[in-house]
Amino acid sequence: MLEEKKILLGVTGGIAAYKAVTLTSRLVQAGAQVRVIMTEAATKLVSPLLFKEISTHQVAVGMWGGNDEFNVEHVAVGRWCDLVVVAPATANIISKMANGLADDLLSTTLLACDKPKIICPAMNTNMLNNPATARNLATLRQDGVVIMPSAAGHLACGINGSGRLPEPEDILAFIDGYLASLHGDLKGMKILVTAGGTREAIDPVRFIGNRSSGKMGYAIARDAARRGAQVILVSGPTALEPPRNVVVHQVETTQEMLDAVLSAYDQVDAVIKAAAVADYKPHHQAEQKIKKQDDNLVLTLDKNPDILKLLGQRKKHQILVGFAAETQNLLENAAAKVKKKNLDMIVANDVTMQGAGFSTDTNVVKLLYPDGKIESLGLMTKEEVGNHILDIVREKVAAKRQEKA
Ligand code: CTP
Repeated sequence: MLEEKKILLGVTGGIAAYKAVTLTSRLVQAGAQVRVIMTEAATKLVSPLLFKEISTHQVAVGMWGGNDEFNVEHVAVGRWCDLVVVAPATANIISKMANGLADDLLSTTLLACDKPKIICPAMNTNMLNNPATARNLATLRQDGVVIMPSAAGHLACGINGSGRLPEPEDILAFIDGYLASLHGDLKGMKILVTAGGTREAIDPVRFIGNRSSGKMGYAIARDAARRGAQVILVSGPTALEPPRNVVVHQVETTQEMLDAVLSAYDQVDAVIKAAAVADYKPHHQAEQKIKKQDDNLVLTLDKNPDILKLLGQRKKHQILVGFAAETQNLLENAAAKVKKKNLDMIVANDVTMQGAGFSTDTNVVKLLYPDGKIESLGLMTKEEVGNHILDIVREKVAAKRQEKA
């Protein structure tokens, strides 16, 4: 999303100003053009020369600095850019922005610029929590300024708390996510993805689980967010890093997954149910670890709710995509699930095939539709399969919206 984007980076005088150097470098590496305006205070902490070398452009500081690159600097640079990022944003610049003050080049430029703005507040915890700062941030939010939440951790004042400037990689991902929400082909869509396998406890140390790695669902969630969708990921336990710019709900049991999915169902345009759900749970969960005794141990299992079937019964505007991992009679079994669960599409794969299945990075799937149409995709990465599914979901959501209009 950052390729060819023109970014005006405002750097103010917080201790974390040094991180803005790395941020500039990452933005440039991602293909953005970056122009930097520093406040006087920021120049006491980091040399403008560093920003100039990395951005390959003059760095502007004062109102009357005579920068050849812009005619009337505060107007020209604001007109030139696609997006403004202020990182770090001190309590002072936040207060100036909220109150429309223009007493230096950065604040004047921000006032004159009508392009989207992201600010990354960074300051001591008490300053951040001060009602005045909270008020100013609320005002900015109301004015349409996007505020990246500050991180928690060790602060320059010696305490641990919130107010840390997030790491440059995280700021980069936040900017990327924001641009995707403006320009991505899934912008304006809300997609719920489930991933991983659910677990049902037998006793405090054992559970019934399955081989799902979560890779397919995580790939879909990551790509949907990259393409600008608002994504909710309901995930069973996995070893995977949560994708950036995605709201993640971690669950363990089928019932927890059902509750999390139902609580979001009314607001979403599509549900992609990649999770491998435990169909049964032990009738009794032993409170203490079960001791080894007889040669045989019989567990009585109770049926869990079928989440997707319930969603199919309650379907209004939503597009429903299911997954069917089968070991035999793939097409027959998958087609029956499309009907039984009232789906718009099912992604069927024979998990016994080479390159398909649980822990692989690739998959071989067939897509089945309610009208009986079948589409076979060859061996693809899970990322490619995910993007193909998202292309179809985008078309189906658009068609559904048109139908309603
Ligand atoms: N699914 C679900 N809730 C369940 C079982 C399955 O939501 N209790 C969803 C899965 O997330 C998947 C689809 O239904 O998208 C098909 O899952 P699968 O396990 O293949 O099918 P089942 O309906 O469980 O049928 P069977 O186990 O008999 O194959």
